[in-house]
Amino acid sequence: MALIINGSPNKQGASMSLFKALFPKIDEAEILHAYDLNIHPCDDCRVCQKKISCQYNDDDFSVIKDTLLQNDTIILISPVYFGSFTDQLLKIINRFQQFFAQKFTHQAPLKHIKHIYVVASCGAKNQEMFDGMALSLKILGSLFEAKTHLFTFTGADQVKNYTQHYQTDIAHYKSQM
Ligand SMILES: Cc1cc2nc3c(=O)[nH]c(=O)nc-3n(C[C@H](O)[C@H](O)[C@H](O)COP(=O)(O)O)c2cc1C
Repeated sequence: MALIINGSPNKQGASMSLFKALFPKIDEAEILHAYDLNIHPCDDCRVCQKKISCQYNDDDFSVIKDTLLQNDTIILISPVYFGSFTDQLLKIINRFQQFFAQKFTHQAPLKHIKHIYVVASCGAKNQEMFDGMALSLKILGSLFEAKTHLFTFTGADQVKNYTQHYQTDIAHYKSQM
């Protein structure tokens, strides 16, 4: 169904709990955990500008790429870390730079992605914490020409039972799917 990447180191934390409440039918086995993957950072080597390739694709990004090519939906799950996705998830997203080169340098865009969802939580009761993620999601939406959906949850550090506390937000977001 989807490429699902959990960017939180906490597999039972706020972001994952809220993702499960929003997408109850998704099998846990489908989820790729960013903190379990060995991902080389994009170092702007520009190999992807010369050919449709990335010199590091024999790392765990190969699993992400294969899953991406077989599905029409991307779901990213992440807490806010200093106003952005976690570093481990951002490292994966930065590797999507090869798809930018594929689209704009080699005129071979990936056009099969229809929806990109982000499920995100943050500690502060401040919606601005998601501004960085919103811009990253907009860039991803433009890259894949996909519809984007940002599901955010503020103030998670004060919460014990996530699904109960955020039940109104969860119902609202589910009604938008
Ligand atoms: C390294 C680090 C950076 C963080 N940066 C922010 C931040 O910029 N704004 C914020 O509101 N919360 C911040 N937090 C709090 C997390 O976003 C919050 O605890 C989140 O709900 C944890 O989600 P998880 O349980 O899914 O890992 C940060 C936490 C850590 C560990």
